[in-house]
Amino acid sequence: KTEKLLSLLNGQPVIPVLKIVNVADAVPLARALSRGGLRAIEITLRTADALEAIRRVAAEVEEALVGAGTILDAKQFDEAARAGSKFIVSPGITRELLDAAKDSPVPLLPGAITPGEIMAAREAGLRFLKFFPAEQSGGIASLKAFASPLADVKFCPTGGITARNAADYLNLPNVICVGGSWVAPDDLIKAGKWDEIEALAREASKLKT
Ligand code: 3PG
Repeated sequence: KTEKLLSLLNGQPVIPVLKIVNVADAVPLARALSRGGLRAIEITLRTADALEAIRRVAAEVEEALVGAGTILDAKQFDEAARAGSKFIVSPGITRELLDAAKDSPVPLLPGAITPGEIMAAREAGLRFLKFFPAEQSGGIASLKAFASPLADVKFCPTGGITARNAADYLNLPNVICVGGSWVAPDDLIKAGKWDEIEALAREASKLKT
């Protein structure tokens, strides 16, 4: 599953974390991000229309690779998978979610912050985890400290990552990509400024992994 997820992400340095308030924004937003070079996107289940947004992007935006984020339990995992999510992201790790992921072809990227959580994910066979909330949980210093004792686990830090610090995270040997909402800020989505979002995506897509 880890390999499947990594091949889906295909070296993309930044995964946009999206909050879709108005479902009509989903398709133009996914297109703008893809044009800017960020094909893999995470639509979070933080709004009523999130599942419908995933459905539309999965059906209408061929060039995008849509994932679901903020998945908290097995029921949401199943709903998101049925909506067409190609990968699923959760802020933390639970037994229920690991079980749901085990029975599904859709790979899970669960959050882990402590060595114990990372070890639990590792026991479930996962070698690629979300480190969330990154900045608030020790950030770069914590990830550096994990590199030696937890050498075979790689991370996608998310939470507090911006254009300013993304490159420093991506320089770490145990970081594969980062996630963040900075490439698609709420105000630009609301104003339908797709060209500006495309430009932010293009900048982010050029970061070295
Ligand atoms: C997430 O769920 O990954 C985060 O909420 C994204 O964090 P950010 O808004 O600080 O980028």
